[in-house]
Amino acid sequence: MTVHFIGAGPGAADLITVRGLRLVERCPVCLYAGSLVPVEIVEAAPEGALVRDTAPMDLDEIVAEMETAHRKGQDVARVHSGDPSIYGAVAEQMRRLDALDIDYDVVPGVPAFAGAAARLKLELTLPEIAQTVILTRTGMKASSMPEGERLEVLGRSGATLAIHLSVRNLVYVREALEPHYGADCPVIVAYRATWPDERYIHTTLAGMKDAVRAEKITRTALIFVGPVLGEHDFRDSALYDADYAHVLRNRGKKKRETA
Ligand SMILES: C[S@@+](CC[C@H](N)C(=O)[O-])C[C@H]1O[C@@H](n2cnc3c(N)ncnc32)[C@H](O)[C@@H]1O
Repeated sequence: MTVHFIGAGPGAADLITVRGLRLVERCPVCLYAGSLVPVEIVEAAPEGALVRDTAPMDLDEIVAEMETAHRKGQDVARVHSGDPSIYGAVAEQMRRLDALDIDYDVVPGVPAFAGAAARLKLELTLPEIAQTVILTRTGMKASSMPEGERLEVLGRSGATLAIHLSVRNLVYVREALEPHYGADCPVIVAYRATWPDERYIHTTLAGMKDAVRAEKITRTALIFVGPVLGEHDFRDSALYDADYAHVLRNRGKKKRETA
């Protein structure tokens, strides 16, 4: 018996992996993480499967369901939104399963930031503009941020930021980032990316609060911040440069730079 932690992807039902869907289709127990997992994925569970939304349950109750399945020898599809490795609260479940000696594995999923970037046809890293993407969030009632990870600190990098769980914290986001990125820095707020009701707001650090309020968005949104979002004037990468040599092309030519 195994508990399979499965990333459901960002919202569109066909963005789950083939492996993840096959597991949902064959596991007699499906525990899924609330409204961020599309109903079509949950409906793929086999006839007669126990299917439970874990949003109203606490950790003890969730682990109790896994233990019951373990006693019955039934595999569990534990479905989380996006990819389980970020903001999924999976580590605490795994720690309990370790203590109970219950086997588990993980199937990755498309994270929301990648789903949104795809819909926006965006590359989040551009040569000489930004070569780092920071996946982060801001502190709220339930979880504070480690001191070194506050936006005031991360902002010094100038990297592309994908800020989760923070659409209700935009005053702070602006205050923390404006000294580093400037008031005119492009911002894109992606709401329910890849879902049928997805929306994208193209704005700036100075304008985002009013723009988001006008759209009445209060949850399930990602805030992208950084110069790459408005940049068209970047240089081509070395990778496809005709003069650039690497192991798969122009082997004889002198390398300008190592890949
Ligand atoms: C609990 S976290 C889950 C993140 C998820 N594990 C992932 O890989 O993207 C939920 C937050 O992720 C972001 N999010 C999840 N799905 C999203 C989507 N389809 N569009 C925009 N943001 C999304 C929002 O910031 C939301 O508040």
